[in-house]
Amino acid sequence: MSESIKLEKIFSDAQDFLPLLGTDYVEFYVGNAKQAAHFYKTALGFQSLAYAGLETGIKDRTSYVVVQDKIRLVFTTPISNENQDIHNHIERHGDGVKVIALWVDDATQAWKETTSRGAESYLEPTVEKDTDGEVVKSGIKIYGDTVHIFIERKNYKGVFMPGYQAWNSEYNPSAVGLKYIDHMVANVGWGEMNVWEDFYNQTMGFANLITFDDKDISTQYTALMSKVMTNGNGRIKFPINEPAEGLKKSQIEEYLDFNNGPGCQHIAVATDDIVSTVCQMKKRGVEFLIIPERYYDTVLDRVGEIDEEILTLKQHNILVDRDDEGYLLQIFTKPLTDRPTLFFEIIQRKGAKSFGKGNFKALFESIEAEQAKRGTL
Ligand code: FE2
Repeated sequence: MSESIKLEKIFSDAQDFLPLLGTDYVEFYVGNAKQAAHFYKTALGFQSLAYAGLETGIKDRTSYVVVQDKIRLVFTTPISNENQDIHNHIERHGDGVKVIALWVDDATQAWKETTSRGAESYLEPTVEKDTDGEVVKSGIKIYGDTVHIFIERKNYKGVFMPGYQAWNSEYNPSAVGLKYIDHMVANVGWGEMNVWEDFYNQTMGFANLITFDDKDISTQYTALMSKVMTNGNGRIKFPINEPAEGLKKSQIEEYLDFNNGPGCQHIAVATDDIVSTVCQMKKRGVEFLIIPERYYDTVLDRVGEIDEEILTLKQHNILVDRDDEGYLLQIFTKPLTDRPTLFFEIIQRKGAKSFGKGNFKALFESIEAEQAKRGTL
């Protein structure tokens, strides 16, 4: 079977009882939402979109929403002791992802379909209204303390959601070319990858796009395994990582230690011009992983012809990989939080719809170099 027919089959194997239109937003629980939002504007080129807090009738927390093309990020901080859920999340995990919100046509049906198949409810279908219309929300629990919230917004024309007002700022640093969320990765505990594969398959109708075992993903010292789950239209991809036995402590174990359990490891965002995006982010203070120079000696033997100059990619530590349909360019930031937990990936797809196996070794060796500096290898 050719690779493209195989991919079509994988996408059609996914069940359509939970049609997902895309990622609606990602919400982070953080210690200081005002400063976090400022960082994502300054360093990653997001724009001010919406605000919720005392001025909008919200008494227990403040949220800032930023946007870049199709990507919306929400940063939320508790402002009183009433909301122990947010406090507890920050105390346990540090700043990190709480909500991966998915855009649906019918949030009530999404909740019924998933909970009837075994998902644990986080939020029963709830209608929120203001003068701009109504949003229906529902939610289910996923790995660690993370949740999916289903957002139905077809009857809403406001800036974000009820409870929010437009956030107009005089500080508007330019965008860096980030377009949409390509995938979001979970780190789960020992032996739990298949549990979450089953969860996404059975309760959400996702199919397994590709599997990497510990032989695919290992260095001299550390190893991990990964399964990429996708929904039927391919817009939502969730790789799930678990640690595997190696000589030293893997980056997944380091994450699980510092995050106190499973959680979102990285958010991959797409660009049409990775070199330009990365140059701008570097100028604004974002730090990227350094890739061993020898990676570039052999990469073209592995991936074949590409449009970009290899020296440019080498200069910026951009990785190249290939599936049978094309290639992709990717690069990884250092953690964006103080704990070595959450990072971002920038990805440019040039035909490739899936993921290659070729970059893991180079990537993990460079993560191991960072772990060694932290004393956590
Ligand atoms: Fe990734």
